Amino acid sequence: MIMDEKNNPGMPLIPPRRALSPSRLLLAVGYLALVGFTYCYFRQPPAAVPWAGAPQSPSSPARNRVAVDEATRELVPLEAHIMSKCPDAKDCLRDLVLPTMQKAYNKVNFTLSFIGTPTNHDDGVACKHGPEECLGNIIELCAQKLYPDPKIYLGFTMCLTRDYRHIPQRGLIEDCALEHAVDFDELNECATKDDGAFGMDMLRKSVRRTTEAGVTKSCTVRLNNEIYCIRDDNEWTDCPAGSKPNDLVVAIEKLYYHGNH
Ligand SMILES: *[C@@H]1O[C@H](CO)[C@@H](O)[C@H](O)[C@H]1NC(C)=O
Repeated sequence: MIMDEKNNPGMPLIPPRRALSPSRLLLAVGYLALVGFTYCYFRQPPAAVPWAGAPQSPSSPARNRVAVDEATRELVPLEAHIMSKCPDAKDCLRDLVLPTMQKAYNKVNFTLSFIGTPTNHDDGVACKHGPEECLGNIIELCAQKLYPDPKIYLGFTMCLTRDYRHIPQRGLIEDCALEHAVDFDELNECATKDDGAFGMDMLRKSVRRTTEAGVTKSCTVRLNNEIYCIRDDNEWTDCPAGSKPNDLVVAIEKLYYHGNH
């Protein structure tokens, strides 16, 4: 369960592509459909895409304020704490985080953080679903590091999460990298740099950040550094303000236009 770069230097190379079986083929077909969906999802006509450009809020009175006012507004911290091989993370990203980001991308400072247990004796991290999950987390952190734009690394992470059982198999990583214009070789280099110590260091920092925020469940969504909503055991819990993307968008806009954050 423990990732230890010191005693296990050659470890987490991305495993070989899995063999083609009927079920794998079926998975691939389903996967392609999902990719198509994701592709369309992120490539709507420019007018409807809030990923880039000036903040838009047709419903907000702030719309009429001068541009310089908009430019000085502070981004609202939004964070999702996940484990890469967790089904709740999949539902949470797909049903809440991604649709919210699609609408409020330019009003938030988004961070994706990971849940794990630091192992004090060896400076490692233990992951609930084993070393494979730790490696998956590191790959997703590498994507975040290499491509800070959430449109890219969150799309890539969502792609992996859809097929979380196969994380961190090479075929899956290659497929998702290709679909999201992520350079697989750079990703691999990041994940294996310094015999894995570089990635482990990122994971340790991310896990520490989660622990300091008092977060233990995957997936926990935090808004403005406070728990907003939790997806646990296939259910939304602790979501007094609502677990629908529009609820979260409203909460973000409230903070962005009126909040003291
Ligand atoms: C986003 O948040 C991180 C901490 O989570 C901070 O280091 C960074 O400066 C913030 N960026 C912006 C643009 O606010």
